Amino acid sequence: MSSNETLQAVRGMNDILPDEAGLWLWFEEVVRDWLHSYGYRNIRMPLVEPTDLFKRAIGEVTDIVEKEMYSFADALNGDQLTLRPEGTASCVRAVLQHNLLYNAPQRLYYSGQMFRHERPQKGRYRQFHQFGVEALGFAGPDIDAEQILMCARLWKKLGLRDVTLQLNTLGDAASRHRHRAKLIAHFEQRMELLDADSTRRLHSNPLRILDSKNPAMQDLIAAAPRLMDELEEDALRHFDEVQAMLKRHDVPFEINPHLVRGLDYYNRTVFEWVTTRLGAQGTICAGGRYDGLVEQIGGKPAPATGFAMGVERLLALLQDDGMALPKPEVDVYVVHQGELASQFASRMAEQLRDSNLRVLLHCGGGSFKSQMKKADASGACVALVIGDDEAQANEISVKPMQGGEQERVSVQNLTATVVRLLKL
Ligand code: HAM
Repeated sequence: MSSNETLQAVRGMNDILPDEAGLWLWFEEVVRDWLHSYGYRNIRMPLVEPTDLFKRAIGEVTDIVEKEMYSFADALNGDQLTLRPEGTASCVRAVLQHNLLYNAPQRLYYSGQMFRHERPQKGRYRQFHQFGVEALGFAGPDIDAEQILMCARLWKKLGLRDVTLQLNTLGDAASRHRHRAKLIAHFEQRMELLDADSTRRLHSNPLRILDSKNPAMQDLIAAAPRLMDELEEDALRHFDEVQAMLKRHDVPFEINPHLVRGLDYYNRTVFEWVTTRLGAQGTICAGGRYDGLVEQIGGKPAPATGFAMGVERLLALLQDDGMALPKPEVDVYVVHQGELASQFASRMAEQLRDSNLRVLLHCGGGSFKSQMKKADASGACVALVIGDDEAQANEISVKPMQGGEQERVSVQNLTATVVRLLKL
């Protein structure tokens, strides 16, 4: 690359520019209010973790660990590190490291960037954002159902259309073990139909084959033995109760016996919220129960369940619904000319900010006319016009930008006048 060529962001990693960031800020506020209304508390983990954490938690034979992690050796001490591809493993690591589960179940949430080296396309990025929600220390089906109900409430709050819920259960270790043996036998009979990935995974992780999107294998997958037929009574009852609770709350769902999820830590309930409006990347939110993970990462056994939503996908869906951008970001634009006027204007701007108004004080000089053009472009509802004449009289000319008479007010009446005009 020549030295004066403009540098570009890494492929699959996007800038979020100010025009779009308004929607992000609005969305993040809605989501945080919603999480707090269910008693979830914020936790913040590092973006980088030891590579072993993800290998252990997500599973060695998964797409994420095999091909998608940004891993590197720390240049100073050689430690193997990875940019987090998801948040559940880090969250459980943090909970154990700081002993948060001692005698107290936890409802936690986090948000931020995740990194996966996938092939970028609409809705699939190499840096993307999630809101993740984890409930640790709860064993019953009530929390599984509550997390799904929570999601349904959020979609309603956001006014999302065309989102459906897919549900499945992965049972417990013993039933999965039996199912695994039957799956291997089933696929071994038709080895010639398996693609390279599936052949490789046949003995290490046959469940992953059910996750394959390869059209040539769909008939074989559809005919595969069902885990549902192997489930223990406890797991079946758990699943029945989750379904009963959803029905009681009128949350429709579809049972999808082939829903296995791309990460190995799940057991029992798994779910995905999907839409047909985002092309191939239609899963906007996904999760489930992961009762074995705490122990796997070195803690005393503790049940847990959680989910994460993809922020880019949710925002794309909202924009597809014609979601209007939130209101303008400036209330008042202050134009001024002359030495005395500039000092006075700056004081008036501070006075308005004391009342939590959003004020843009013009910088860079120029004629009143050119400053008024900037005031117009800023989207402010009110402009203050201040010349030396106003400054000497300790008065301010206040101009409603959407039309209406300009008025001249005293310093004492300024805030009340501006607030009145903003309410019009
Ligand atoms: P996941 O299914 O891998 O689960 O990701 C959750 C969501 O993140 C997806 O449904 C999707 O909306 C979004 N997402 C994933 N990859 C990308 C990508 N490359 N580009 C854009 N969006 C993406 C997990 O990450 C689990 N940790 C969820 C969980 C929490 N399970 C229990 N607790």
